[in-house]
Amino acid sequence: MQEKINTSSEAFYENELVSRKSFLKTAGSVALFAALGISFTGCSSDNGTENIVGPSQDTPPDGNSGFTISGNTITIDLTKDDASSLSNSGSWGLIAAAQTLVVNVGGSFRAFTSICTHAGCDRSWNFSNQQFVCTCHGSRFNTRGEVVQGPANRNLQEFSVTQSGNIVTIQK
Ligand code: FES
Repeated sequence: MQEKINTSSEAFYENELVSRKSFLKTAGSVALFAALGISFTGCSSDNGTENIVGPSQDTPPDGNSGFTISGNTITIDLTKDDASSLSNSGSWGLIAAAQTLVVNVGGSFRAFTSICTHAGCDRSWNFSNQQFVCTCHGSRFNTRGEVVQGPANRNLQEFSVTQSGNIVTIQK
């Protein structure tokens, strides 16, 4: 099971058991996921703090989480607690259940596959200095999904994102 976290900057996602406690400690976040069986990696800051947002792969998102996954469509309701941290510019999240990374870049959302193009790790993500970092082997990608540091040599696949008010829709 994973856990989810909220903060207000950039973030780093960690695998399933990013303890809520350590999260709250390092990111000062708000967490309420455990009970929901949901996991998110979310915001932190350029100093490498961590955060998580997103439903775990094994647990369907709860209706109250703010995340709904239906086929290849992910809907994020920014008014919900679990998703609200993404409203802040610089926030990011890993929606593990949908193998999707999402980031708020100056108020605009971008989304990418969380499957690293190097060797396929999909849950070991951090976000630091405006870059996604795959902690499996250290590949880094900018907020356009472009490789900025190997060993990966291919960009992350980007998904289409639309927003209407507080509803963000990602189409894989
Ligand atoms: Fe991501 Fe190797 S799988 S850097």
